[in-house]
Amino acid sequence: MKILDESLLDFAHRHAVDFLSALPDRHVGARATRDELLGALRVPLSDGGEDPKAVLASLASQVERGVVGMAGPRYFGFVIGGAMPVTVAADWMTSAWDQNPGIFVTSPLVSVAEEVASSWILELLGLPAEGSVGFVTGCQMANFTCLAAARNAVLRNADWNVEERGMNGAPRVNVVVSAEAHVTIHTSLRMLGFGTQSMIEVATDEQGRMIAGELARVVENLSGPTIICAQAGNVNTGAVDPLRRIAEIARERDAWLHVDGAFGLWAAASADRKHLVDGVELADSWATDAHKWLNVPYDSGLAITRHPSAHRAAMSVKAEYIEHTAGAERDPFEYTPEFSRRARGIPAYAALRTLGRRGVEALVDRCCARARQFADILSRDPDVKILNDVVLNQVLVRFSDDDAATRDVITRVQRDGTCWLGGTTWHGIAAMRISVSNWATSEEDVERSAAAILRAIG
Ligand SMILES: Cc1ncc(COP(=O)(O)O)c(C=O)c1O
Repeated sequence: MKILDESLLDFAHRHAVDFLSALPDRHVGARATRDELLGALRVPLSDGGEDPKAVLASLASQVERGVVGMAGPRYFGFVIGGAMPVTVAADWMTSAWDQNPGIFVTSPLVSVAEEVASSWILELLGLPAEGSVGFVTGCQMANFTCLAAARNAVLRNADWNVEERGMNGAPRVNVVVSAEAHVTIHTSLRMLGFGTQSMIEVATDEQGRMIAGELARVVENLSGPTIICAQAGNVNTGAVDPLRRIAEIARERDAWLHVDGAFGLWAAASADRKHLVDGVELADSWATDAHKWLNVPYDSGLAITRHPSAHRAAMSVKAEYIEHTAGAERDPFEYTPEFSRRARGIPAYAALRTLGRRGVEALVDRCCARARQFADILSRDPDVKILNDVVLNQVLVRFSDDDAATRDVITRVQRDGTCWLGGTTWHGIAAMRISVSNWATSEEDVERSAAAILRAIG
């Protein structure tokens, strides 16, 4: 068997070129049903295998109807970035190298590239230079990783070593979260042994920001190990919690402050927007994504802490056969829950180095400007109400001040295919969510998409 089969790589290259050139003009949503895709893909597993090019061709033949154009410039669903060309290319190289970057000796290049990318990320996001960064699958695992470090650190301060003794019989930990915490904070805490009922919720304001005065009131009555989870970038409104005040309250209580900043943390890279995350550097840990605003391919999240030793203590493992580095080299698996994993720091390195400081700033500012453009165009229609202060890249829209009408507009827009966006329930009422997170979204894309939305009002 040959290691290199150029014809397969050529096929993949050709397919990717065709896919990406059609992306800006294609119907954005997927159109195939499960049955249609099953009809095409469910074949009996053969005994002897099939021709590899035929297998690739079979998958590629379903892409037009079965794949969502989420990497394209008019996809505004959830909070989803589109991979920049250099990051797609870097990702291909990563696949060809097929590195397992667990420890330095398994992949010196990846270890060093991730070390360098970590320092750039800390610099760009205005976080302490001595902080630690783990390259995880996404913000869910970033939240999990940071909160594992938090749990173990606050318990260590209470003379309880979680790494050795586990959680049975451990002192109670107060876990304080915003009433608008992202669901992945809840799942992370659940995985760490804190049930949803043990979380103490702090009330939020009309934009979904934690109310600092309420936090002060809540923590006043608490004693013992405490973790506070704040947020930079509410998934609906983009609003950022008052981080400086929250950090002061956390410091007074000796609490570990974690900030979920899946996308909002990137406001720090923009001179015009960094005031939104004022005080963010005072936290103990931060979770964010590279696959959202940095526009690298899935999957790519970043678990960042101010306390490398707590980070490592919570994540690292020891085994006889693993050659840990003895020097300054970095063993990447000391910062992630995964043992083996993809070398996902490589596309992130390529993105950061290609964009530079000003490129990242321009990317953030551009998306925010496009979100503003959406709000300006849509709000001219008397049937449209913008529900949030558009401070970042998120816009919440309601039609005819009516739940059913709003949901109908969303369905019609999805069917039309000019763009794709989803819905939400915001403070009890239905709303359309627009998230502009793609490097390629132009003013014209927003004009075309806004026109499609206005047409859908009927
Ligand atoms: C605030 C916030 N936290 C966490 C997440 C989860 O991120 P991921 O899907 O990368 O795990 C999201 C996703 O949109 C988010 O907006």
